[in-house]
Amino acid sequence: MTKKIAILPGDGIGQEIVAEAVKVIACLKKEFGLDVELEEALVGGSAYDDCGSPLPETTLELAREADAVLLGAVGGYKWESLDIAVRPEKGLLGLRAGLELFANLRPAILYPQLADASTLKAEIVADLDIMIVRELTGGIYFGQPRGIRTLKNGEKEGFNTLVYRESEIRRIGKVAFDIAAKRNNRVCSVDKANVLECTELWREVMTEEARRFPAIELSHMYVDNAAMQLVRAPKQFDVMVTTNMFGDILSDTAAMLTGSIGMLPSASLDENGKGMYEPIHGSAPDIAGQGVANPLATILSVAMMLRYTLDEAEMAERIENAVRKVLDDGLRTQDIYSDGMTKVGTAAMGDAVVTAIRQG
Ligand code: IPM
Ligand code: MG
Repeated sequence: MTKKIAILPGDGIGQEIVAEAVKVIACLKKEFGLDVELEEALVGGSAYDDCGSPLPETTLELAREADAVLLGAVGGYKWESLDIAVRPEKGLLGLRAGLELFANLRPAILYPQLADASTLKAEIVADLDIMIVRELTGGIYFGQPRGIRTLKNGEKEGFNTLVYRESEIRRIGKVAFDIAAKRNNRVCSVDKANVLECTELWREVMTEEARRFPAIELSHMYVDNAAMQLVRAPKQFDVMVTTNMFGDILSDTAAMLTGSIGMLPSASLDENGKGMYEPIHGSAPDIAGQGVANPLATILSVAMMLRYTLDEAEMAERIENAVRKVLDDGLRTQDIYSDGMTKVGTAAMGDAVVTAIRQG
């Protein structure tokens, strides 16, 4: 049966990079019989400009009825001073919450061709392959109460709430343990249990849940140490599991180990494996519209979609092999450029991947 993919380019470079991912999907449809239909909708700042909401009801409906969602990025200077309730980021957070996409998988893999692009020494990052499992619908991102209030003395006070229920910790733990079982059986749970009660509970529940997975070796690390270890000796990690905000921060750090944040895809999954797929980078308003953004993270997000939601692992491999091939051929967008390579723009990179897929 034909599967439906909701295409939500969003803002900034989101438009440009999603266009390249759509070329890849079109090629798989035409040449390899991928049975999907695409429907595009607005989200983020562009949706706000169109109808005053960063997540129009029609977009949420489309995302709900689709089998998978491909998202570009949201946000930009233009909307930074809007009320927080209608900022572009609310569109993304609303999709995550509305679709109950609690499990965010962010693989940080170093392509050997890009060892020079990392700011870390090649031997520290060579063969790096980490999976960060970030809780995505709870924690301080969504906790109530939240806001900015004015105290009696007239001073303003901002407040947010870090909150996790046992069941939320348990289900993200299970996702991490299941993934580790298909990798190297090691999970490092990252918390701040020495200071925050909420993550003291996180540690307790992770430990308990791990008992159901005797093959898994579970360790715990405070988030400050984890940030340090990621740049000191990143290869000690197999799977990392952590809260929404810690995962946001650590996944950007892990991205830079791989040379560029422009390389990292992600999958956000619900209980049933339905997913939204997006690059982990943002809308990069500083380079939007120039045709220089790296489309590979978005293209690799399509590969994750094929593997996790559409059950087309072989086509996912086709994409991943094609990405390796274009890197082997020396093609580089500016974010991963190094001396002696061929600098290309967004569209040329997308076209090269399509050609490589065709030539298989
Ligand atoms: C990410 C982004 C988002 C987040 C923003 C755009 C709301 O940084 O996906 O990592 O904080 O989750
Ligand atoms: Mg982030």
